[in-house]
Amino acid sequence: MKKIKIALLGIGTVGGGVWEILQTNKEEIFRNSSCEIEVAKILVKNTDKKRDKAIPQNLFTSNYEDIVKDKEIQIIVEVMGGIEEARDYIVRGIKAKKHIVTANKALLATHGEEIIKEAKTAGVELYYEASVAGGIPIIHALKESLAGNKVQQIMGILNGTTNYILTKMTNEKVDFDMVLKEAQEKGYAEADPTADVEGYDAAHKLTILSSLSFGTSVKFHEVYREGISKITPIDIEYAKELGYVIKLLAIGKGTDDSLELRVHPTFIPQTHPLASVNDSFNAVFVKGNAVGDLMFYGRGAGDLPTGSAVVGDIISVIKDINCKNAAAHAIEEKSNRNIKPMGE
Ligand code: HSE
Repeated sequence: MKKIKIALLGIGTVGGGVWEILQTNKEEIFRNSSCEIEVAKILVKNTDKKRDKAIPQNLFTSNYEDIVKDKEIQIIVEVMGGIEEARDYIVRGIKAKKHIVTANKALLATHGEEIIKEAKTAGVELYYEASVAGGIPIIHALKESLAGNKVQQIMGILNGTTNYILTKMTNEKVDFDMVLKEAQEKGYAEADPTADVEGYDAAHKLTILSSLSFGTSVKFHEVYREGISKITPIDIEYAKELGYVIKLLAIGKGTDDSLELRVHPTFIPQTHPLASVNDSFNAVFVKGNAVGDLMFYGRGAGDLPTGSAVVGDIISVIKDINCKNAAAHAIEEKSNRNIKPMGE
């Protein structure tokens, strides 16, 4: 079986999820395939640090040259976060003809246009499903399944940390700081929680989604942004009395000649489907002129849900390049399970 070598840049929450999925679901993914993925290198700051996962020590390197100059590595998976260093690594990777998978919303929201251009010029693949809404396949849906639509509106709960905080504040009347700490412990929050609570993270994601939805390169600074740090338990109580819940919504609306792009806490009627999207779950509403209204719902943060999107992207790359039959789910594949007749 042919091995396709990949490198991970970072092995934090998302990188750990990617590693785990590649180990656990290996058989499923590659059952009918002529090739399989091998993680050949993992870029870390400190190669001696003790890590939870049983990862062979020889995979770690702190020198990016070991990866970018390794001709056998075909795919670089950037799960380290941050902007400038990640941008430098990705651009150098593209120039070295490596395909790129990234989960980095901040990077794409600020330098997406440049990176997409670089990838096109170099003729390499660039996938970024995990950059928005964790495990929800919204990027693929917008790029592929909904390509026949003019998107009129996109609206979502795109930040798991703030949704978790608002849910807890609503249900348990607990203090903002305490809930934030819990969200960080669960691995939802960004290293700097300002990105979550002040709406930057949701605005990064809206920048990516609206660029795709409305077919125009939206700039991050064009998105109006307001976070949840000023929301108090009293606001939540008032909302409740009036029949509303407070959610941090990201909203993109398009007309023929203008776009409205904003992230802010919003009163939502308790009966609206978005009102029951709780904890760290995300949801995305899309209104297309052909399909009508759609709602996507799922886990928007955490190691395995986000890892699921990254692994899906890695599989897309290997299918694009030379491994057509790699897939956990293929309608034509022979099932290795018997279908039980009803009633038995
Ligand atoms: N901090 C982000 C969130 C992680 O809470 O949604 C996923 O992008």
